[in-house]
Amino acid sequence: MRIDVVTIFPTFFDVLEVSLLGKAREKGLLDVRVHDLRDATTDRHRTVDDTPYGGGAGMVMKPEPWGHVLDGIADASDAAETDPVFVFPSPAGERFTQATAREMAHEQHVIFGCGRYEGIDERVFAYAATRGRVRLVSLGDYVLNGGEVAAMAMIEAIGRLVPGVVGNPASLVEESHEDGLLEYPSYTKPASWRGYDVPEVLLSGNHGRIAQWRHDQQVERTRERRPDLLAD
Ligand code: ADE
Repeated sequence: MRIDVVTIFPTFFDVLEVSLLGKAREKGLLDVRVHDLRDATTDRHRTVDDTPYGGGAGMVMKPEPWGHVLDGIADASDAAETDPVFVFPSPAGERFTQATAREMAHEQHVIFGCGRYEGIDERVFAYAATRGRVRLVSLGDYVLNGGEVAAMAMIEAIGRLVPGVVGNPASLVEESHEDGLLEYPSYTKPASWRGYDVPEVLLSGNHGRIAQWRHDQQVERTRERRPDLLAD
């Protein structure tokens, strides 16, 4: 899977070199390329933003550098064949969920456009739609300073679902949100620690009882912490 990231803070994404995703990149499962939006500017100050038409607080990201860098990525990457999807993290976007991550893990090419300031000139989204599919996606109902942290979270959620990235695919199945419920509690040795005991059923060796207990715990936790998921 090819992932491009456009940002004014490329070093933000250095952490993608470590951990599971770093290994996936070494193995060639993920081809991640980070682009500095300022490299696509033409003025001495490498300007990426300007004041909003119509007035108002804050600055808006100018369309020209975006057009230049998106063209560069699309033209250089056999985009006609890979049918890229442009993802712009935005608090005004559709909600990013485990289902979104699953969908995107099937894509051949995802291009993240990280906005800063009050956002990106709206025409950039219309232009990107002539070069691929466009999605504005929100991490949640709160406002971050820019798209970088959201893009990192999405890349991790998507990347770990790409076949081969997580060594034991079975471990992906029994996680929170995979079946619409929160995951059950986990324990390891020792069986007794500082007066806290592992639930007896987990030591019983009775797989039927264990499965039933885990399911009951999932439902119970979901009812307590995320009743909205049960309503769905
Ligand atoms: N950029 C700023 N806030 C965001 C959010 N909540 N989700 C995605 N991108 C963002």
